Amino acid sequence: MKALITGANRGIGLEFVRQLIAQDFHAFAACRNPSKAGQLLKLQEDFPQQISILKIDVTNDQSLADSYKIVHSKTNQLDLLINNAAISQGEQKFGTFDSSKIKSVLEVNSVAPILVAQQFARLLKKGKQPKIVNISSVLGSLSRATNPRNPRMSIYSTSKAALNMSTIHIAHDLRDHKIIVVSIHPGWVRTDMGGSNADIDTNESVNGMLQVINSLTLQNSGKYYDYTGTTIPW
Ligand SMILES: NC(=O)c1ccc[n+]([C@@H]2O[C@H](COP(=O)([O-])OP(=O)(O)OC[C@H]3O[C@@H](n4cnc5c(N)ncnc54)[C@H](OP(=O)(O)O)[C@@H]3O)[C@@H](O)[C@H]2O)c1
Repeated sequence: MKALITGANRGIGLEFVRQLIAQDFHAFAACRNPSKAGQLLKLQEDFPQQISILKIDVTNDQSLADSYKIVHSKTNQLDLLINNAAISQGEQKFGTFDSSKIKSVLEVNSVAPILVAQQFARLLKKGKQPKIVNISSVLGSLSRATNPRNPRMSIYSTSKAALNMSTIHIAHDLRDHKIIVVSIHPGWVRTDMGGSNADIDTNESVNGMLQVINSLTLQNSGKYYDYTGTTIPW
């Protein structure tokens, strides 16, 4: 089985690589600066047959096209795509919004996952029970946002709501190819993004998400779960 994970050099993405290779996957671990990806390089040194490191900046079309060629030269199929890379740009509130920060959050978190999925769909169509997992956030839930849990994260929340809508549409677009597409909230996780006060560590989050991912069928496609498998209202 073969998986591609974006943002695989740290945090949740790096833990996905660790746990997927333990499940005998080959991991195409994508990051924008491979030469600086210390922990990922070390993991690859220990498991050279199971990890291929790819240079992907998810906002760069050329980098997506180039990495597709590299992956395709090594395999005809992908079984799992994890759209994990994201940014938050810190807290932003109405009155002090910054145009370039808003655009970059939407570009990385909402636009890029669509283009990554589109780029690698040809390989996923040949995969075994293929899946696209969009790492979302509970902050992207519209129905839970009527009383925002974190009002200063409004742009990040907006970006994840948009990502969720693309999950529904791409699930529909790829249903005939039997590709399962879901959004998953990883929990509040202790990473650079989640901070040190978060509820759970990357091991617990990814372990839970992989149990959810491994149990998915086409009936679950187009749905929104958290890392325990509980459905989140859109
Ligand atoms: N941690 C939480 O509590 C939490 C909660 C809900 C949802 N999430 C979601 O979980 C996912 C992983 O978050 P995390 O906590 O592991 O965050 P993180 O520690 O900040 O890691 C983010 C990853 O995304 C990569 N990235 C950012 N922009 C990129 C780009 N343009 N191209 C390629 N890679 C890029 C980063 O690469 P660089 O090292 O090059 O910057 C890094 O590898 C995200 O989708 C996040 O929104 C996290």
